[in-house]
Amino acid sequence: MTETFRVVQWTTGKTGSAAVRAMVGHPVLELVGCFAHSSDKVGRDVGDLCGIDPIGIAATDDIDALLAIAPDCVTYMPYRPDFDHLERILEAGVNVVTTMYMLAGRGYGDDVKERLEAAALRGGASLYASGVYPGHAPMVGLAASAMCSRIDRISVLESLDMSGYANEKMFRAMGIDLELDDPEAPKLVEASCGSFKDQIAVMAHALAVDLDEIAFEAHFAAADETSDFGFMTVQKGRIAGFKGVISGRVSGRSVIECQFVWKLGHHMTPNWPVEDGYVVEIHGEPNVRVRLEPIDEHFDGAITTAMPVVNAIADVCAAPPGIVNRMRLPFVRGAHLIAR
Ligand SMILES: NC(=O)c1ccc[n+]([C@@H]2O[C@H](COP(=O)([O-])OP(=O)(O)OC[C@H]3O[C@@H](n4cnc5c(N)ncnc54)[C@H](OP(=O)(O)O)[C@@H]3O)[C@@H](O)[C@H]2O)c1
Repeated sequence: MTETFRVVQWTTGKTGSAAVRAMVGHPVLELVGCFAHSSDKVGRDVGDLCGIDPIGIAATDDIDALLAIAPDCVTYMPYRPDFDHLERILEAGVNVVTTMYMLAGRGYGDDVKERLEAAALRGGASLYASGVYPGHAPMVGLAASAMCSRIDRISVLESLDMSGYANEKMFRAMGIDLELDDPEAPKLVEASCGSFKDQIAVMAHALAVDLDEIAFEAHFAAADETSDFGFMTVQKGRIAGFKGVISGRVSGRSVIECQFVWKLGHHMTPNWPVEDGYVVEIHGEPNVRVRLEPIDEHFDGAITTAMPVVNAIADVCAAPPGIVNRMRLPFVRGAHLIAR
């Protein structure tokens, strides 16, 4: 008989809702509870909150009640982490998969990492962080690296028009709509991309290379006109897009690079071309280029972010306790997704 996994969803924002929609009716995942951060979501049916028919499970903010269900796993997807909550979940022996990539690295500081690792070990639980980028897209590059006899540089680019992703809080936290020369802007982008530094470290470990440093640079584009995106307005002349480059260096050379170009619309200078997806390149022997592109108009970022962790639940539940990164799991794949 196929093993099934009982799952509690932690919050129903964009990514969390996509996870719920994927888990309802899944052959081996059973949604058994849901945590709500917002008080007005408490008591509401989780299906209603996630844009599907009611499923008979009410969202709650009662953590003891959720842990009393003894789920196998929590799919943890709030906007910001609560380390007390995470400690309680892991200590109770409940595995956690999350789209907060920094939770598996050192991005929140060594003390947080040690605290979560200790809670996981006490509870005999595992914590795994992924998402699309950072997360799964670079893993496609690592898979391609196995075809090479020499690698001079491996890079991953996320290049998106984000105007369909209604998240004003997130964009403002990354400097969108600040003045072009605001000294805070590069600091904001750098502060919110700590997870990419962790991503570079994971790739360096996988490729067995000792990096001298992980460097960061940011470039900004100014809006040519004032634009209202429905969820926020960007004023003419202010930041409407940015390019971040995080590079792992050896002897002054960038050998592992994570780049991201995020734009709100296209009316900006410079107007970087948008790939509308992910481009993984290896310069070496041979040169390799992998492009992940949507067949329709856009990738649904909520789905591509949620699924690399939803699809990892079975492997994470079977993993040894502690923080497990991608290299300690079997290759995460979309098992059970082909309908009979
Ligand atoms: N690795 C990747 O590829 C990737 C890509 C995109 C996003 N992410 C990460 O995935 C997570 C979810 O992203 P999202 O876009 O789905 O987020 P979101 O929709 O903005 O928010 C998710 C939920 O967070 C809760 N929330 C709101 N304000 C909060 C606060 N101040 N503190 C704690 N929780 C709060 C709300 O829960 P309720 O609904 O219960 O009120 C909200 O629905 C974020 O941490 C994001 O950084 C990762």
